[in-house]
Amino acid sequence: MDGTAGRINAAVAAAAGQPLLVQSFADWREAARELLAFEIAPHTVKWITHEGGGDLFSAAPQPQSAPAVASATASADAIAVLNPRKANPTLHLPRKLMDMLASAACCRVADRWAFLYRVVWRWQHGDQVVMSAADEDGSRLHAMFKAVHREEHDMHAYIRFRERPEEAGAPRFVAWFEPSHDVLPQVAQHFVSRMGRISWMIATPDASVLWDGATLHNTGPLMSSSADLDDPGEALWLTYYRSIFNPARLNAQRLQSHIPSRFWKNLPEGAVVPEMISQAAAGARRTGQAEAVGQRRGTTIAITPAQAQPRRDAPSTLDQCRRCELWQHATQAVGGEGPQRARIMLVGEQPGDQEDLAGQPFVGPAGKLLDVALADAGLDRRTVYLTNAVKHFKWEPRGKRRLHKTPAQREVEACAYWLDQELAQVQPDVIVALGSTALKAVLGSSHAVLKDTLGQPIRHNGRWVVTVYHPSFILRVPDDAAKKNAMAVMVAGLKLAQQLAAGQGPATPAP
Ligand code: URA
Repeated sequence: MDGTAGRINAAVAAAAGQPLLVQSFADWREAARELLAFEIAPHTVKWITHEGGGDLFSAAPQPQSAPAVASATASADAIAVLNPRKANPTLHLPRKLMDMLASAACCRVADRWAFLYRVVWRWQHGDQVVMSAADEDGSRLHAMFKAVHREEHDMHAYIRFRERPEEAGAPRFVAWFEPSHDVLPQVAQHFVSRMGRISWMIATPDASVLWDGATLHNTGPLMSSSADLDDPGEALWLTYYRSIFNPARLNAQRLQSHIPSRFWKNLPEGAVVPEMISQAAAGARRTGQAEAVGQRRGTTIAITPAQAQPRRDAPSTLDQCRRCELWQHATQAVGGEGPQRARIMLVGEQPGDQEDLAGQPFVGPAGKLLDVALADAGLDRRTVYLTNAVKHFKWEPRGKRRLHKTPAQREVEACAYWLDQELAQVQPDVIVALGSTALKAVLGSSHAVLKDTLGQPIRHNGRWVVTVYHPSFILRVPDDAAKKNAMAVMVAGLKLAQQLAAGQGPATPAP
């Protein structure tokens, strides 16, 4: 549509006393620009939203926009009274105000479009106090902005994806949520960046989004409640939730303030919380007794982590692995990568933040440093098999970042199940252990010490094991000379691994 015609359409409709139909922030922005250009005052404009309110930002076909509705019915009289301003009608708003308007537009209040127009009208007419929280409109704008951001946060925190049985074309994880504001598009973007290539769907009463691992699809409502989710994985989650619930530490009020009760009905754990609260008093008594019993001296029985670990069924795929708890906070399991058979296998510690998102080992900063070391050693990354001792990213939150946390020995032992399978398949002649965790995983010993094995190949289970520094360690070395030195040790280790793979190492000790 020609720009002038567009401006006249919305302005004509308003001048003719017709309501403007607005369904998205983009619609509103276009209409507001037109109205301001023709100096149409806020109190003369009537805004309407699609009946039923929702589906504001979905990509489903939109009904007619404000200008189009107006052009169909505007009267010639209305055109005659319009008084285009001489000045350039382009609307220049500060970025901060634009961001606040865009967020506030997601707030489900009946007069949102009229309110936003009043704000920009005031701003355009030099009344910049409108952005201040001390102003009546400004305070409301701030409150709407905050309400939308809180809702986004709640949706990130309280949405629960349920795993679906594998079915061609169907999303792997499905979640139901009833947002109070129109935050689905931005929340969908959040999960696109968190869940990598795993497919998922989020359904809400007004709209749904589907991520197929590569593209985000917006659709209309697909489900009417969480009851439409038939969840085989939920029993597992409830068992886990019950097991971490400590009745002695229950503070029902805090529990309610952490998980507002409006979310309970759609959270699997919401169903068991009331029951657990009612059992808490008895539970606390039992715990008190247990403490007293615990103070009596007993006999300590030495037991290895492997013995203490509960027996679990062998998982058939890495994605299904629940041998330790790390899967819960990781985006996905990250398996090894490389040729089916390779003479050299490089074993790292665990995927980092970027590997967790990408689903591939060594693609982040440590991976980049490893690439340089491999190139310096004349080793082609495509010819080696790259994997990690632990296949899920272990981290702790630090502000908005996920900070790497060293895996515990029991997690390394639980994951040895997968490393053993990789070794059996790839059958490398040489394993390069990158750092201490990898060395312990490869040797199966929690006593292996990195500095004793640097530059000293070890014969283990019929293969050579070469130890080098972990690339993340080299990245952290503060001093330039020491960093260079650590890098030289790494390159030398990789060269040694090539010689050993070519049968040029020290004489192989008798088995
Ligand atoms: N560090 C590791 O040990 N492995 C990776 O895949 C990435 C960083």
